[in-house]
Amino acid sequence: MDIVLSGIRSTGNLHLGNYYGALQNFIKMQEENKCFFFIADLHSLTTHPDPAMLHENVKNVLVNYLAAGIDPEKSVIYVQSDVPEISELYLYLNMHVYMGELAKTVSFKEKARKQPENVNAGLLTYPTLMAADIMIHNADKVPVGKDQEQHLEMTRRFARRFNNFYNVEYFKEPVAYNFGQELIKIPGLDGSGKMGKSEGNCIYLADSPKEIEKKVKRALTDSGPTEPNSVKPDYIENLFTIMRVVSTDEVIAHYEEKWNACEMRYGDMKKQLATDIIAVTSPIRERIIVLENDTEYLRKVAREGAEQARESASKTIRDVREIMGFKGF
Ligand code: TRP
Repeated sequence: MDIVLSGIRSTGNLHLGNYYGALQNFIKMQEENKCFFFIADLHSLTTHPDPAMLHENVKNVLVNYLAAGIDPEKSVIYVQSDVPEISELYLYLNMHVYMGELAKTVSFKEKARKQPENVNAGLLTYPTLMAADIMIHNADKVPVGKDQEQHLEMTRRFARRFNNFYNVEYFKEPVAYNFGQELIKIPGLDGSGKMGKSEGNCIYLADSPKEIEKKVKRALTDSGPTEPNSVKPDYIENLFTIMRVVSTDEVIAHYEEKWNACEMRYGDMKKQLATDIIAVTSPIRERIIVLENDTEYLRKVAREGAEQARESASKTIRDVREIMGFKGF
């Protein structure tokens, strides 16, 4: 059975794009693999988050994941900062990682441009921390988006370098987890290409039916096509794209027909779309509400997750220390 490691940004509530883009695949993934899911709160320190928000965000991510179907009976789910072995491996790896290769990482250059007042060493060594996350369990596979591929490539390089330097075959070279089919991308409601937190165009899994109706109602439309069978502008195509994910074939065909016949009634379409989105999100939302208030349970999940993660992590650290020459007296 493959070891799969998923790192999750600790950015708070999850939206419909996260659900269809990643979560649904994660839920399937845990049936066939030994999965580790962790919330990357150490990585978030690179932007100096407010301490009160830090915990709130970690909690929201944990609650959303559990509510959507990540199962602590099947997978190990933990908070990164609960596993100090990761930070230790990060320190060791950093001794074999070079300034030059870190400085030319795409994500580093981008973030340095975004926060020129705070180009800290943690930002520079972000790829080392990510490599430590993966190597601490000697993972075989890592589900990553396009923006993380370079980091995974660097992880392979660091693993190879460690093995070569110490003349061992200890670390595996992890590969991207392939979900097999095209990833579903949920567009924004504002006509933009992608639903994203920073774009402010999200429907959250935790949104109430009222909020969802309001957001869908506000989505950009126009006065409708005047020529039969015309090409849809992006902001209309986006509504259809979401519909294709959440609605039945009949509903989709019905509105395609209306579009092609220039008989579009956006009010009706939006009402239907909101209803179908709510049907997907409301069972998750109901579980979110229960979990949010069950501190006892969250504590148990986090504690047991950390215990299991540390069992695997401490074995790696023992081996690595031995390989590097820390013998003790
Ligand atoms: N860098 C990843 C992101 O921004 C999150 C992450 C941190 C991660 N450590 C990881 C992902 C390890 C996979 C494996 O999304």
